[in-house]
Amino acid sequence: MKKSAFFFASLCILCFQSCYGGKKKPAENQEKKIIVGFSQIGAESAWRTCNTASVRDAAQTAGIQLIYENAEQKQENQIKAIRSFIVYQVDVIVFVPIVADGWDTVLREAKDASIPVLVVDRKIHTEDESLYAGVIGTDSEEEGRESARFLQKKFHTGSGKLPKKKYRIFEIRGTEDSSPAIGRAAGFREIIGKDPAFEIIGSESGDFLRSLGKEVMANALKSYKNIDIVYSHNDGMTLGVLDELAEQHIAAGKDICIVSIDAEQAAIDALQQGKLNCVVECNPFLGPQVMELVKKLAAGQKIPMLTHVKETVFEEGTDLSGIAPRGY
Ligand code: AHR
Repeated sequence: MKKSAFFFASLCILCFQSCYGGKKKPAENQEKKIIVGFSQIGAESAWRTCNTASVRDAAQTAGIQLIYENAEQKQENQIKAIRSFIVYQVDVIVFVPIVADGWDTVLREAKDASIPVLVVDRKIHTEDESLYAGVIGTDSEEEGRESARFLQKKFHTGSGKLPKKKYRIFEIRGTEDSSPAIGRAAGFREIIGKDPAFEIIGSESGDFLRSLGKEVMANALKSYKNIDIVYSHNDGMTLGVLDELAEQHIAAGKDICIVSIDAEQAAIDALQQGKLNCVVECNPFLGPQVMELVKKLAAGQKIPMLTHVKETVFEEGTDLSGIAPRGY
C-alpha cells in the first residue's frame, strides 16, 4: 500500500473509533465525565422548548455530557435513539416518553446492557417496574383535580345541593395515550364526575398543539350548543382556543370560562387580561433535579421510584401582579 493510502486508511479508522467506538477511557488522574443520552419528544409547545433548555443547561452546569436526540413527535424515533445510546454505552439514559405504552422491549435492552434509565416529565406503563430506575415529573392527576376544584369554587358547587342548571364542559385533551392527557382527564373526572352541577358534553384531542386547539374549538362550537366551560390540557391548545373565540367574537373568560394547564407567559398574560379564568402550573424546569438523579444513578445509587415537582395554581380574582416572568 502506498504511504498516502496507508495514512488515509489510518485516519478513517481513527475517525470511526472516535465517532462510533463507544466511550473513551479517561486518563489515569482525570475525573470521568458522566455521559447521558437524552431523548426528547420534540418541540410541540413553548413548555417543551423550555423543558429541553432546562435539561441542557443543567447538564452543562453540572459538567455532564449530554447526547441530545429530538424524536419529532414519533415514538419509533425515541426507540431508535435509546438503542443508539445503548450502543454508545452512555452512563445513564434520560427520556421523555411521548406515550405511556410500548417501551418494555427497548427498556429491557437497556437493562441487559446495565444502563439505568430515568423517565422524565411523562410516565410509562411497563409490565416490570424494574426496567427503569425512576420517574421525575409533574403530577398530572393533581393538575386535573386542581382544574376541577377551581370550577367548583367559581360556580359555588360541590355542596351536595342540586344546581338550577348543569354547567356544560368541553374538554380538549393532549396527545392520545400520553400520561399527561390520561392523568389530567382522570384527575378532573375524579371531582367533576361526583358533582351534579357539571356535565362533560364533549372531549376531543388537540395533540397539545395550538393549531389543533383552534380547529377542535371551531368544530365544538358547531357541534355543541351553550358551552359554558372549556377545560384544555395545555396552554398551547388554549391559545388556539382564544384565536378561534376572537374570530367568532365570543368573549373568552366571560361568555366561556376557560381553564388551562402549563402557565406559560402567554397564558398568564391572558389570565391577567381576563381572557382565561384559571391556569394550573405544569413545571418544565426539571433540569437541575434530573441532573442530581443522574449523578446518583451514574454512581450506582438507588433513586426514588417517583419524584413529583412543586406546582402552583393561578386564578382570576387573586393578586396576579407579583408573578415573576415565567421564562417560557
Ligand atoms: O408533558 C407535559 C405536557 O407536554 C405539557 O403540558 C405540554 O405543554 C407539553 O407539550
